[in-house]
Amino acid sequence: MRLLSSRRRHPAAKALLLVAALFVIGAVYAAVAPTEQSAAEPNTSQQVTKGKELFSVNCSSCHGLNGEGTSQGPTLVGVGAAAVDFQVSTGRMPLAQPGQQAPIKPGEFTNDEIAALAAYVATLGPGPAIPDSSQYSTDGLSAEEIARGGELFRTNCSACHNFTGQGGALPEGRRAPSLVGVPNKHVYEAMLTGPQQMPVFSDQVLPSQNKREIIAYLNSIHAEPNHGGLELGGLGPVSEGMVGWAIGIGVLIGFAIWITARGARAR
Ligand code: HEC
Ligand code: HEC
Repeated sequence: MRLLSSRRRHPAAKALLLVAALFVIGAVYAAVAPTEQSAAEPNTSQQVTKGKELFSVNCSSCHGLNGEGTSQGPTLVGVGAAAVDFQVSTGRMPLAQPGQQAPIKPGEFTNDEIAALAAYVATLGPGPAIPDSSQYSTDGLSAEEIARGGELFRTNCSACHNFTGQGGALPEGRRAPSLVGVPNKHVYEAMLTGPQQMPVFSDQVLPSQNKREIIAYLNSIHAEPNHGGLELGGLGPVSEGMVGWAIGIGVLIGFAIWITARGARAR
């Protein structure tokens, strides 16, 4: 009897075992988990310092001294280097006047300065990095992949940017810009960071390969020569159908009236 009972487990043993297991998992995770900041730090610290200086002169009036945001501009914590590269190299930032849609204008900063600003903002919180050319290059994509890019574009982008990327109006006086001639890198970054009303298409939602396909599709349609004829704004099937309908049916009705009028006279 005594032997048996000494073998029986203490009632708390299960709970203790669970706690111990959790502890071990936690410790292993802490040891294995990547430390996000440390990777690129040492050799770019000079760049970050330069970026911070540029930032406090040009950006902090709206985005706060530490990028925390003010009533004039949103926080930049976690927007990542990609957002800064996109906003500053398209000339949207620095914004001249708060309240309007940031216009695309000639950039004010050199590439080095943009890189420094991006490196500084990236230290504020983890966010998407500037894509490298292997991510947005469209080299070697097959016709099939480009066609898939077209499908993806029509599903995800055409609601705002139109079927041929011509751009279009949005509520509250804003507009989705034309995508004709936008460099590959900026198309990639726009998808990655979702400026203004544009949704973010993260790499989890829309893998890098699909982004390349969309970019290749845009390049292919914009490289297409105009074959003449009436373009009807390139607005796609709806407007073209509308015009076809109105004119086509109009002519048919006119013709029908003409026939009945003649028919009546003949009788
Ligand atoms: C006059 C105020 C103003 C100044 C100056 C300004 N910004 Fe902005 N910034 C804004 C506003 C407002 C928005 C959000 C609206 C928009 O996207 O147009 C914004 C958006 C951004 C975004 C996008 C954030 C996101 O969520 O994707 C980035 C990145 C950015 N600014 C960086 C900068 C940098 C870098 C500078 C300095 C070179 C700068 N801004 C100067 C007002 C300003
Ligand atoms: C809900 C509407 C909406 C959808 C959907 C959308 N966009 Fe946008 N997009 C916008 C708006 C608005 C802007 C302008 C933002 C600004 O001015 O800061 C924009 C800007 C852009 C730009 C920057 C153009 C330039 O001249 O700098 C690119 C590139 C772009 N979008 C590509 C895409 C692609 C590719 C997709 C689909 C994967 C997409 N967009 C889906 C609304 C949208």
